[in-house]
Amino acid sequence: MRQLIAGNWKMNGLLAEARALATSIRAGAGGLDCDVLVCPPFTALTTVSELLLGSSVQLGAQDCSMQTGGAFTGDISPAMLHEIGASYVILGHSERRAMHGEIDEIVREKTVAALAQGLIPIVCVGETEEQRQSGRETEVVGWQIECSLPKGFSGIVAYEPIWAIGTGRTPSEDEVAAMHLFIREELTRQFGDGGRAMQILYGGSVKPSNAAALLALPEVGGALVGGASLKAEDFLGICRAVSAQR
Ligand code: PGA
Repeated sequence: MRQLIAGNWKMNGLLAEARALATSIRAGAGGLDCDVLVCPPFTALTTVSELLLGSSVQLGAQDCSMQTGGAFTGDISPAMLHEIGASYVILGHSERRAMHGEIDEIVREKTVAALAQGLIPIVCVGETEEQRQSGRETEVVGWQIECSLPKGFSGIVAYEPIWAIGTGRTPSEDEVAAMHLFIREELTRQFGDGGRAMQILYGGSVKPSNAAALLALPEVGGALVGGASLKAEDFLGICRAVSAQR
């Protein structure tokens, strides 16, 4: 399976910046031996969608509603995302879990709604620093997988240790490999053959200089990139580092 390099732009990118970034990524993505995805903020989705038409770069959103429509002020439905050309949606990112009270059950319902619309969910899991220091990282991540993924789940899981997001710190290669192996075992236990084939991304301070090492680890099927996805050169540098390994 080709690695997936997904850029999570978070709440960054007024339209002029979004246009410039998408245009540069489109221009640099030709010939890469990996799948490339950008996830701009809602307001830039349509603009970026139009700029990416006919290119290999795919489009995703950073969240969606669990509802299909109606009186849900401020929400965006999976069908609305699908209509403007998004094929992926990030769900349960730790920033949404922490700042918007998105507990596992909400993440699971959103995942159900995304799948029903044919979107590919990227469901995020990961432990806090305190949980890792007290040796509870697999317990926490195992529980998140069990409770955030619905029955019959098909999609992508992103392992993002919260203490590595935006900090410049990453777990050791052994720690990443061990957690990805654990996640694979959990997915296989829950979903059988489907779980054996699911893509597992690593996220948290991925940059061009550490991408090759992190993405060569067993069971790492790509990266979810935050800060480094806002500079086309860095994001493409990560994509090139991964492509060069194949
Ligand atoms: P980061 O963010 O690459 O800036 O650490 C990753 C993420 O939050 O998805």
